[in-house]
Amino acid sequence: MKPKVFITREIPAPVLAFLREHTELTLNPDDRVLSAAEVIAGARGCEALLCNITDPVGAEIMDALPGLRVIANFGVGFNNIDVAAATARKIPVTNTPGVLTEATADIAFALLLASARRLGEGERLVRSRAWTGWNPMQMLGADVTGATLGLIGFGRIGQAMAKRARAFDLTVIYWNRTRLSPAEEQALQVTYRPFDDVVAAADFLSLHVAYNKDTHHLIGEKHFAAMKPTAIVINTARGPVLDEKALVRALSAKRIGGAGLDVFEREPVLEPELYTLPNAVVVPHLGSATIGTRTKMGMLAAKNLLAVCAGQRPPNCVNPQIYG
Ligand code: DGY
Repeated sequence: MKPKVFITREIPAPVLAFLREHTELTLNPDDRVLSAAEVIAGARGCEALLCNITDPVGAEIMDALPGLRVIANFGVGFNNIDVAAATARKIPVTNTPGVLTEATADIAFALLLASARRLGEGERLVRSRAWTGWNPMQMLGADVTGATLGLIGFGRIGQAMAKRARAFDLTVIYWNRTRLSPAEEQALQVTYRPFDDVVAAADFLSLHVAYNKDTHHLIGEKHFAAMKPTAIVINTARGPVLDEKALVRALSAKRIGGAGLDVFEREPVLEPELYTLPNAVVVPHLGSATIGTRTKMGMLAAKNLLAVCAGQRPPNCVNPQIYG
């Protein structure tokens, strides 16, 4: 008997083909986020729920689906799932680490370059047909080569960002909950500094921490005040890691140089000023948005849920304590 699986949103075709072969699959036919009631209706009788980072999965859904054996998130971040509720019900929750590291670091570095060199402003100028020609003083940006990149969080994606920074001759300093060994730091050519020092010394400050109650508004008013007046902050982690209202105040008052943002506190809605502030580059949560990466994420989610349905421990369980 093939396990019954409900997918909340269309994902790449090779993953759907794989799942159709190995499971009895039901897919949300509409390209939109479902309500909790719709998820419950769609997943009734299913053993596996393959959900997205935009689907809040709480106790209400878990209790309404007594046959649910696994919640497989299509994403490395899993703050959309009430993991404590799943753990209390002995339901494994899985995520997709590793496969989106490079794509997300690419977007972080793209935002760094775009913010430093004012690419958003430049593109808007050209498209508005207001460009009057080359001008020695037009849209002068920040130098990237030789600048200091501060990384807050130094897991897989932070380290991939450091690798990119080496090619641009950036000095890389980092803060992480757990410091790397001297040998690892040497190999990655990075220097550990206390949190506040990284914030104060960075020309570019890029955030790479998971979102949880400890990282809510990790960067706020006092940090913007402590940054260099030319500093640019990059966020590809989760919106609420950064206090968006405080960021808007800092950008509006030009207390910092700029921001490159892929994630927002209340996606898809931004703080109103962010739609027009020229010193912010804003893109719609594109970190993992490549065909290859999204396919790998889907295959990993599929393998995780199939493992649970086969009575095995899934490779990427975020609540392994349920296995004792
Ligand atoms: C994730 O996987 O958490 C990403 O934010 C999706 O791009």
